[in-house]
Amino acid sequence: MSSVLQVQGLSATYGFSRRSPRVLDDVSMSVMQGQTMGVVGESGSGKSTLAKVIVGTLAAASGTVTVEGVDVMHARGAQRRALRRSVQMIPQDPYASLDPRMTIGRTLLEALAPNGGRPAQHRDRIVELLGLVALDASAADRFPHSFSGGQRQRVAIARAIAVQPKLLIADEVTSALDASIQFEILDLLDRLQDELGFGCVFITHNLGVAARMCDDITVMRHGRVVEQGHISLLAEPADSYTRILVSSVPDPGGLFLEGPSAYDATPST
Ligand SMILES: Nc1ncnc2c1ncn2[C@@H]1O[C@H](COP(=O)(O)OP(=O)(O)OP(=O)(O)O)[C@@H](O)[C@H]1O
Ligand SMILES: [Mg+2]
Repeated sequence: MSSVLQVQGLSATYGFSRRSPRVLDDVSMSVMQGQTMGVVGESGSGKSTLAKVIVGTLAAASGTVTVEGVDVMHARGAQRRALRRSVQMIPQDPYASLDPRMTIGRTLLEALAPNGGRPAQHRDRIVELLGLVALDASAADRFPHSFSGGQRQRVAIARAIAVQPKLLIADEVTSALDASIQFEILDLLDRLQDELGFGCVFITHNLGVAARMCDDITVMRHGRVVEQGHISLLAEPADSYTRILVSSVPDPGGLFLEGPSAYDATPST
């Protein structure tokens, strides 16, 4: 198994002044092919900032991010274009990220052929992608507003996997959905990962979801990693902050149980 993502000693701020607070401070992690690294921690702990640095939309103050050995912050030209395909992000709110004036077919076509392509040429692949996310082929001719939230998230996933990414960044991808729909989307992501083998950074507030989805986990607080390791550490955290997170779950004993009830494990803080 090879590593898709290596994050080493990452620090980041949003300001240019030396006094700007560090939003990420010495964060490191590694994600193997076909594996999922969960990232949990209270609001403002830097989870989405980490996602931004990994996808290359925010420059780090120090440290490195490499995807399949390519340095994200220094990639140029063909390497940069390749990275744009190999690292894909699934947004929290697919409605905001889907163009309301574009049919789903058009949206997928733009993902497949960003420099312009004829729909006929990509028709089969578009139908295949819709099938992969369990949407009917007729979805290609419909507009985003005619789908439910869960279906729109399926479209966003289809768009993300269209270019056969090596790494998927999922930032709170199911937090806006009902528990039952959440279950379907998580199942879908799991199945696609088995089929396609991408590595995944899975950001969530919900420890039940993390326990269900992730192989490893990184617990963050104030931009720092407080605990990291195999997901089973949630059953017996070494760090006091992780213990607080786990104890705020209504049924910590149920964290590693199968089934939708585990998804009710949103911390009450
Ligand atoms: N664009 C920005 N400009 C300045 N500060 C920002 C910006 N985005 C985030 N921050 C700050 O950086 C810190 C980390 O924010 P971040 O969004 O990464 O947290 P998070 O862990 O994703 O939180 P949440 O769980 O609420 O999504 C917070 O203090 C936040 O206020
Ligand atoms: Mg966030």
